[in-house]
Amino acid sequence: MLSIKEVSKHFDSLTAIKDVSFRIKKGAIVGLVGPNGAGKSTLLNVVSGVYPPTSGSIIFNGLDITNLSPNKVCKLGIAKTFQLVHSFPELSAFQNVLVGALFGNSEKISMEEAREKAEQNLDSVGYPLDKINYPVKNLNVVELKRVQLARALATDPKLLLLDEVTTGLNPKESKDAIALIQKIRDSGITILMVEHVMRVIMNVSDSIVVLHHGEKIAEGTPAEIAADEKVINSYLGEKAYM
Ligand SMILES: Nc1ncnc2c1ncn2[C@@H]1O[C@H](COP(=O)(O)OP(=O)(O)OP(=O)(O)O)[C@@H](O)[C@H]1O
Ligand SMILES: [Mg+2]
Repeated sequence: MLSIKEVSKHFDSLTAIKDVSFRIKKGAIVGLVGPNGAGKSTLLNVVSGVYPPTSGSIIFNGLDITNLSPNKVCKLGIAKTFQLVHSFPELSAFQNVLVGALFGNSEKISMEEAREKAEQNLDSVGYPLDKINYPVKNLNVVELKRVQLARALATDPKLLLLDEVTTGLNPKESKDAIALIQKIRDSGITILMVEHVMRVIMNVSDSIVVLHHGEKIAEGTPAEIAADEKVINSYLGEKAYM
């Protein structure tokens, strides 16, 4: 479904991503991990069109999307949540998701249908419906993450890019989040997710890609990654809570 080919991204003299290639099969959950500053968010931003890559290409369902705008990429079926919550702070939870339903999709949709879709998506991610009209600036982090997820889902993505949606959750909440991610995949959506919590990534991913200083240092099943010396030395070694 997605092929990332020798993608690099420089910010002035800084190389955030260097020659990264991997593929994502339809229906898979792929985990993207690595230390702080490894280039994970940058890679998601390049795939979703937020930044053009400095070099390399991105092919989505046979289509070269390398230099498309985020809006076009979204309409083709790739939605992303942001690591930092980028919602519209004064708008309500409902309105934030409505924006996704109205503008993120390639199909024409009536206001009535969009409203229904926004509410359904908020409900399906476990957002408390009695808070649907709260401005998002008043929400806690768990609620905000749910709004983001609902907004991304309201665009009817084929591929969902998740940037640390379970970070900051307690064990019960992260268990719920794993179940939710699996439910989303079972509904036919392919997932590429960045996550620091290894318990989550190991449980939920079909395969894992490890970045370090912008380069891919390993790719494999969770078991292969957990046993990979390079990964242990550069990343997992510091994860005492694994
Ligand atoms: N817009 C930008 N302008 C300049 N440098 C940037 C920009 N975005 C990211 N970087 C730099 O690129 C490198 C990779 O950052 P990135 O945010 O992709 O890492 P990350 O793996 O997501 O880290 P974290 O786990 O902390 O979220 C870092 O050195 C960062 O400072
Ligand atoms: Mg990041």
